[in-house]
Amino acid sequence: MTTEGSMRLQSFDLRLFDIADTDLEKLHALSLTVGWPHRLKDWEMLRESGYGIVAQDEIGRVFGSAMWFPFADDFTTVGMVITSPRLQAHGHGRWLMEHVLKQTGSRPLRLNSTRAAYRLYLSMGFTAEKTVYQHQGTAVPLVEPEVPHGAVLREISVGDLSELVALDRIAYGTDRQALFARLLQVSTGVALIRDKRIAAFSLCRSFGRGTVIGPVVASDDADAIAVIHPHVVAHAGDFLRLDTRQKVGPFAQFLTRSGMPVFDTVTSMSLGGTWFTDGEVQKPGYPLTYALVSQALS
Ligand SMILES: CC(C)(COP(=O)(O)OP(=O)(O)OC[C@H]1O[C@@H](n2cnc3c(N)ncnc32)[C@H](O)[C@@H]1OP(=O)(O)O)[C@@H](O)C(=O)NCCC(=O)NCCS
Repeated sequence: MTTEGSMRLQSFDLRLFDIADTDLEKLHALSLTVGWPHRLKDWEMLRESGYGIVAQDEIGRVFGSAMWFPFADDFTTVGMVITSPRLQAHGHGRWLMEHVLKQTGSRPLRLNSTRAAYRLYLSMGFTAEKTVYQHQGTAVPLVEPEVPHGAVLREISVGDLSELVALDRIAYGTDRQALFARLLQVSTGVALIRDKRIAAFSLCRSFGRGTVIGPVVASDDADAIAVIHPHVVAHAGDFLRLDTRQKVGPFAQFLTRSGMPVFDTVTSMSLGGTWFTDGEVQKPGYPLTYALVSQALS
């Protein structure tokens, strides 16, 4: 019996639909095809936070997605841009992004680009600004940092929402109240108190393959380390992840020594206006984003 032979199947038609009307299971299956770790719950939270499109064939199979998250008129992030591997390099990703640009109109856009998407975004006019270091691994709480002098740590509660949002607003540049309200429902958090005020904080939640620490806001590496260390201890032996723009220095070293070396990098890119105005130099005492919420939400 011979098994030789080949045939060319006719290509199929794809149409765009609102992501809000798409089964979460189909979105989950799509992100698995590109090796992304998102769980159904992660997709659920992303859908609650933004808008988007999916490309489906005539029998309802999902082959692509793209989302955007409008935190403010002048601050929108783009994420979850996926083309199923069997359709890649045929113009599908560009088609999805062109629809995102139509939907977002004149809003300035920010995104964190994977290597696979970098040329696509560059060719659409996005500018590369900074690198994000995706640290992850099995948490090893070997390093016991000292709580900075004059500060105490305590657990975060829902009542801290407005103080967290205010600090994040200075660090991040926009008001993320709705996102923080949602995050507080699913996160545990640590606040560093100095002079009776929250001077630094971290949130930590289940995500993907395990647990993610983020966002983290602090004015220096010592404060940032102090607020993440309790999460490293709580998740000793488990898979832990943190995405940061800190390339070097005590914070980056602490992550590596705690079992989370750099696994991958993505590039923060912008369209329609510069994202980061701080340059590379941190102003003393000024809060900084030490960890992202996620690459899509930034
Ligand atoms: C990134 C991704 C969405 C691109 O989707 P795609 O459907 O392959 O993209 P397109 O076919 O529209 O290609 C767009 C551009 O990307 C570049 N590109 C696409 N495939 C490429 C390849 N195999 N090698 C080099 N460049 C390639 C080209 O510059 C192309 O431009 P062109 O239209 O002038 O040829 C897809 O690779 C993907 O889902 N990757 C995994 C998930 C991911 O990384 N998403 C990005 C999140 S930021």
